[in-house]
Amino acid sequence: MRIQVESRVKSLEDKTKIPYVVGSKSPTAVAINSASKAGEWIKSKLGMHQELNTKVSPQDLVTDVDKGAEMMIRKLILTHFPNHDILGEEGVAPGATASAAALSKASQSEYLWIVDPIDGTTNFVHGFPFFCVSIALAYRGEVIVGVIYDPIKDEMFVAEKGKGVYIHGNRGEVSKEANLSDSVIGVGFNPDREFGLPTNMKGINALASTTRSLRAGGSAALHLAYVAIGRLSGYYEVGLNAWDIAAGALMVAESGGIVTDTVGKPYDIGVHHVVASNGKIHAELLETIKAANATGIA
Ligand code: IPD
Ligand code: CA
Ligand code: CA
Repeated sequence: MRIQVESRVKSLEDKTKIPYVVGSKSPTAVAINSASKAGEWIKSKLGMHQELNTKVSPQDLVTDVDKGAEMMIRKLILTHFPNHDILGEEGVAPGATASAAALSKASQSEYLWIVDPIDGTTNFVHGFPFFCVSIALAYRGEVIVGVIYDPIKDEMFVAEKGKGVYIHGNRGEVSKEANLSDSVIGVGFNPDREFGLPTNMKGINALASTTRSLRAGGSAALHLAYVAIGRLSGYYEVGLNAWDIAAGALMVAESGGIVTDTVGKPYDIGVHHVVASNGKIHAELLETIKAANATGIA
């Protein structure tokens, strides 16, 4: 019997001239499975990375675990969707020019997976338990699936276009704050010391005195997931890449929030300077960032 099955598979390969494909899983299930497997492996490597290198600045870290996790995710995705394209952070040369070129090329793809194998590498390296795997799928440039997995808290955030955001089966909703003064906003100390960090510092300075408080956890994707389920009222950071934002942006939009660039243009996968919020404080957040000259957009 087994021999028969194998020979049928072989004849299918011969007919189609493509490798046999495991085709029964939905993209969302594949994203969840990939994030979960990679996340568990990353957690098992906590404190045990073998290589530590830097990218655009001495503060921009990468380890063998980032690379291994991305390889694992790529293999899992391609097992199910061998014709899809993948834009993964560790497959792109460091720096804004290379990432812009990679994104421009990838934007032509019909189905594009956008992967950050570890968002929060600095935290991973220092044992600070706040990092995640972020996986998104875009169809013709529009994000339709977003999955973010925090292996430390074992929290899996899942969003599908038009279907909301879920964390372990419970639907997520944005928070209710209507004023910046009642809000807790996530921010980032961007590793780019020439442009990203100084610009963010102007925004952080303005927001520190106009909000209830700020949080800089060190993972853009987890901050966005937290906005989506109401743990943060909003998030602002200049100088991010598509893989930091794509999955989380869908989550915020699907939970009733708003995601734009720092001058209020609706989110697309080319956005680098992001403002996400529960919607109610969005205008005030944008105004504060603009008044502080902290949009990063000329
Ligand atoms: C970084 C994190 C961090 C943010 C940086 C990102 P990485 O991603 O999201 O919170 O401030 O701008 O580069 O390098 O840990 O994947
Ligand atoms: Ca990242
Ligand atoms: Ca990363």
